[in-house]
Amino acid sequence: MIQAENCRISLEQLDLPVEIISSSYEETRSIGIKLASILKKGSIIGLRGPLGAGKTCFAKGIAEGIGIKEIIRSPTYTIISEYDSQPPLYHIDAYRLKGDDDFREMGGEEIVFGSGISLIEWCDRIPAFIPEGAIRVDIDIIDNEKRQIHIYREKTGN
Ligand SMILES: Nc1ncnc2c1ncn2[C@@H]1O[C@H](COP(=O)(O)OP(=O)(O)OP(=O)(O)O)[C@@H](O)[C@H]1O
Ligand SMILES: [Mg+2]
Repeated sequence: MIQAENCRISLEQLDLPVEIISSSYEETRSIGIKLASILKKGSIIGLRGPLGAGKTCFAKGIAEGIGIKEIIRSPTYTIISEYDSQPPLYHIDAYRLKGDDDFREMGGEEIVFGSGISLIEWCDRIPAFIPEGAIRVDIDIIDNEKRQIHIYREKTGN
């Protein structure tokens, strides 16, 4: 396990997989900003972690890193928010979805397998949308301020 402070080099080179302990909201956001540098058209990022883990915080960092100036909020009720970046960012909150089919009915395949960048909170709810090679960000709560963040490429495919 490495502290975020000590793992700057590996994060700048973005050697995945990486496990980082974040000690603050700001640190989690800045890890998101760094991860943004390896994203491109078609990238899929799946975030998993309990309520209040910091998924949206991390998503805000990614959005900032790809140049979005708007304020990012969890699309809990709307499910999908689209941001007009280049490539466009689709921020998806799967918490309220019943599963893969539910999201397919909303046009999920065209969105996630299109040419934008898709950021999916509660990605374990819609495993068919996390293919092999997708970037996974698993966040676990250690205590009030500390989070363990594991960033890796999905291996199995769904
Ligand atoms: N190291 C940390 N990283 C991120 N957030 C932290 C950290 N320490 C404390 N927090 C707090 O945890 C909360 C994270 O909220 P956030 O909305 O990002 O979580 P979430 O995983 O998206 O939750 P939800 O599933 O409810 O949408 C915030 O209140 C934030 O201040
Ligand atoms: Mg959230």
